Amino acid sequence: MLTTSFFDHTFENPFMNASGVHCMTHEELDELAASKAGAFITKSATLESRAGNPEPRYFDVPLGSINSMGLPNKGLDYYLDYALSYQEKQTRPLFFSVAGMSVEENLEMLWVIQKSNFNGITELNLSCPNVPGKPQVAYDFPLTKTILTEVFQFFTKPLGVKLPPYFDMAHFDEMAEILNQFPLTYVNSINSIGNGLYIDPMTESVVIKPKDGFGGIGGEYVKPTALANVRAFYTRLNPSIKIIGTGGIRSGQDAFEHLLCGATMLQVGTELHKEGPAIFERLTAELTAIMDEKGYTSIDEFRGKLKTINV
Ligand code: SIN
Repeated sequence: MLTTSFFDHTFENPFMNASGVHCMTHEELDELAASKAGAFITKSATLESRAGNPEPRYFDVPLGSINSMGLPNKGLDYYLDYALSYQEKQTRPLFFSVAGMSVEENLEMLWVIQKSNFNGITELNLSCPNVPGKPQVAYDFPLTKTILTEVFQFFTKPLGVKLPPYFDMAHFDEMAEILNQFPLTYVNSINSIGNGLYIDPMTESVVIKPKDGFGGIGGEYVKPTALANVRAFYTRLNPSIKIIGTGGIRSGQDAFEHLLCGATMLQVGTELHKEGPAIFERLTAELTAIMDEKGYTSIDEFRGKLKTINV
C-alpha cells in the first residue's frame, strides 16, 4: 500500500531518516538498514572526519529540537566504504549525503563518488546552518547556480540537493528557476530553520553551547514551513525532479500532509532522535490507517492533490 517509486527503484514505504540523525556510525546505519524505514541516508560527509561543534550541541525541546552539530562526521571514505559494502548485499539504493566546507571540497567529493562503484543516490547538502563562518550555500542563489553548473559537467549519477527553508514567493520562484536548469533527481525540503534561539526559562540560559545558543530548529515548530516549501517546489519544478519532504513529521498525519503537498519520499529527524528507529513501524502503521479510512489504496492516488479554496 505504501510502495513508493523513486529514481529507478521501488521502496516498501516512503520513510527515511533525515541526514544527521542516527546515521553517524556504521552501527547506527546498520540499525536503520534493519528498521522498517523504506530507505536511509548517511550523515553528511566532509572529505576528512570532523569533530563538529562543542557540546551540548543538540537539545530536545517540547515542540521540537535545536541543534548546532557543526557537521561532525567520520569522513567521506568511512561512509563510502559502508555504502560500497552495503550495495553488495542489498538491492535497495542507499542515499549518500555530502556537505563540503567549500565549493572545491564539494566538487572533490563528488568526483570521488563519480569515479567509485557507488550506485546509489547522492545528496548534496547546501543548507547546513551550523558551521561558524559558513553561510548556508543555498541562500546564495548565484553560488548555487555556479556549483550545480560545475557539478553537472562531470557528475552523471543520480543527485539531489538538500535545501534550507525559503520564506518568500520570490525566492521560491528564483530558486526553482535555477534548479529547473539541471538534471536533478530530487530536491529535499527542508533542512532545519537556521539560527533560532531556545531559552530555558528556569535557568534563563540558552540550551546549546555553539554560537551562543543559536541553532537549527526542527520538529513540530517547522512543519508549516516544510509543507510550504514542499508545495512551492512541487508546483514549480519540472516533474522529473522529485521532492523529499522533511520537517515536522511526527505522525502518519504529518506524513499524509507532506504527501498531499507533493512529496515522494519523507525524512524524519527530530522525532527519530526522540524515539529511535522503531518510529518507522509506528509511522507506516499510522499512514496505512489514515489511507484505509479515506479509501486510498496507493499513495499515488493523493500525492500532490492538495485542494485550495476557490469560491
Ligand atoms: C549539523 O551537522 O550541523 C547538521 C547538519 C545540517 O543541518 O545540515
